[in-house]
Amino acid sequence: MSRVTAALGGRLAFGGDYNPEQWPEDVWASDVALMKEAGVNLVSLGIFSWAWLEPKAGRYEFGWLDKILGLLHDGGIAVDLANASATPPPWFSVAHPDSLPVDVDGVRRSYGGRQAFCPSSPEYRAAAAALTEAIVARYADHPAVVMWHVHNEYGCHNWNCYCDTSAAAFRSWLQRRYGELEVLNDAWGTAFWSQRYYDWDEVIPPRRPSYNTFANPTQQLDFARFSSDELLDCYRAEAAIIRAGASQPVTTNFMDFFKPLDYWSWAQEMDLVSNDNYRLGHLGGTGATHNLSMSADLIRSLSDTAPWLLMEHSTSAVNWQPRNVPKAAGQMRRDSLSHVSRGADGALFFQWRASRAGAEKFHSALLPHAGTTSSRWREVCELGADLVKLAPVAGSRGTARIAIAFDWNAWWGVELDSHPSTDIDMMTAVRRWHRTLWEHGHTVDFVHPGRDLDRYQVVLVPSLYLVTDEAAASLAAVVARGGTVVVNHFSGIVDENDHIRLGGYPGAFTDLLGVRTEEFGPLLPDQQVTLTLAGDLVGAATGTVWTELIGTADHDVEVLATFADGMFAGRPAITRRRPEPGPQGSVGGVAWYLATVPDDATLSGVLLTACRQAGVAPALDIADWPAGLEVVVRENDDTRFVFALNAADSDVAVPATGTDLLTGAAWSPESRLAAGGAAVIAARRTPGGG
Ligand code: GLA
Repeated sequence: MSRVTAALGGRLAFGGDYNPEQWPEDVWASDVALMKEAGVNLVSLGIFSWAWLEPKAGRYEFGWLDKILGLLHDGGIAVDLANASATPPPWFSVAHPDSLPVDVDGVRRSYGGRQAFCPSSPEYRAAAAALTEAIVARYADHPAVVMWHVHNEYGCHNWNCYCDTSAAAFRSWLQRRYGELEVLNDAWGTAFWSQRYYDWDEVIPPRRPSYNTFANPTQQLDFARFSSDELLDCYRAEAAIIRAGASQPVTTNFMDFFKPLDYWSWAQEMDLVSNDNYRLGHLGGTGATHNLSMSADLIRSLSDTAPWLLMEHSTSAVNWQPRNVPKAAGQMRRDSLSHVSRGADGALFFQWRASRAGAEKFHSALLPHAGTTSSRWREVCELGADLVKLAPVAGSRGTARIAIAFDWNAWWGVELDSHPSTDIDMMTAVRRWHRTLWEHGHTVDFVHPGRDLDRYQVVLVPSLYLVTDEAAASLAAVVARGGTVVVNHFSGIVDENDHIRLGGYPGAFTDLLGVRTEEFGPLLPDQQVTLTLAGDLVGAATGTVWTELIGTADHDVEVLATFADGMFAGRPAITRRRPEPGPQGSVGGVAWYLATVPDDATLSGVLLTACRQAGVAPALDIADWPAGLEVVVRENDDTRFVFALNAADSDVAVPATGTDLLTGAAWSPESRLAAGGAAVIAARRTPGGG
């Protein structure tokens, strides 16, 4: 159990961002009373309070925060206290205009929104450090404070900066990475286009280059790495101040698949991983639900399967999408429970009381504009009661045996410009592969390809364009120990410097997959090719986006699909290698390769066959997985918790045995879960297994 859960008396967290400074003081007491009524036990305080806490440089005013912390504590509500560094006040930006961020075109952005600072600005860093020190000195021992919230959604509005201060910081970062300018020249391939550097001072961020040309790709890649590290440095500095003066756990809230920040490196700096997730209306009903699940799977994985905290989601509509769709009855509950099923030890929201002014006044909240005589408020109170019943779940972990290899470096790399096709991006393949398994009841982790892959029987490798030697070796080791990997086109193409791995594509994986590709054949948007299936794959099939000329395939490679037409007709399109057991203890697993983007049915055929043949089954044995049913398992040493969420319009069979923690009633294999309903079926684990 995490220290935060322990501080909450073993209960799951329930609550959200609390912004009392937006309201007159006489509202505060009723806030606390209503929080108690709803079952709120944790609020995040002070996130955007810098201007209130420090009205003038170096003059701190803590009176109001003292008062509200006291009220909350008296009400039995714990606090996730922010160090308030997320947005410097206007006076700060006026005093330090050079601290404002500069975009790729050299335009300095203004204050007036939020996060208007350059991550490398020494003035910003000094002021944020001083503020953090003052807050920690005052509140480290406050009994309401159970955790610390550093900043807020790092990089959301300033993920990089191209100013001269950033340029100098970039050069220092590059000097640490490469040591010698000669090594940088080699890594960046500056023999090309007369780009060779003779002096460190010539090196700059990839500012917008002259018309119709591309900035150096490795320069762009390193700038992405630097920008993630630079914000991480800001976090580290502020977290270090907190840890020096206080003992509570420290976190900052992630934004699930946020491209600018390499969360694998960030997660290592968290005492407790936390995340914000919002329904993406444009993805449509099941698309948005799937996105939520996939995001939660990422966060569980960043937390190394240990419990994490859902720091923010919404009770209903947000304010920042083109059309902000409210949540239907039951949706908020299912969304919250879905996060919990995937490892969250609590469900917090943005925000407690809906604002009446400012850019987020149309964002939903626990306490809506309509007040307590509203169905939203009733649902909020019911959710609070549900989460109390789920206390036994706290501390339990996920059990996935399938993982998607995911690396921010590969993401940055694959989406660089000047590539064979603009139709390849990271998230399209990742989302589609994850969704295929999600629709069939599988729970999938994400894993850094260079880290320990031993707990996974199946490792999926979509769009791992850039791969280090170590990561390639880790993936090869999965197959050597009898596991399965599935790799798609345009993976394994370059090393960490974005240099092509020579000798045939997909360079890093040619031996693993037993294929050598000579040429790529990207398809035009309206083009598709026919595939002829064989072996385990059956039916009519097509490919889009991509084809390639697989020149040779090793003797132990089966061709499961062939291009029937198009430029590479007659050549392999989907292959499966089953290497023979090898000399050094290798038992021989399975390595699949997809040299095109197959239609949905063919992709399902590949992924489900790969899992089945690897001996990995969904959480429950259900023949045709019903659309809309999600089943996810958490476990601790004694108990297995089967979360079943039914987003469909009709009831479904959930063949499990135990007690439904939400109703207290027995659950038998014949029990059915109502349309829109949820159950959390707890059962003692049998010794040695399930
Ligand atoms: C993010 C921020 C919050 C708020 C919400 C609105 O999660 O952290 O401050 O802006 O978005 O959805």
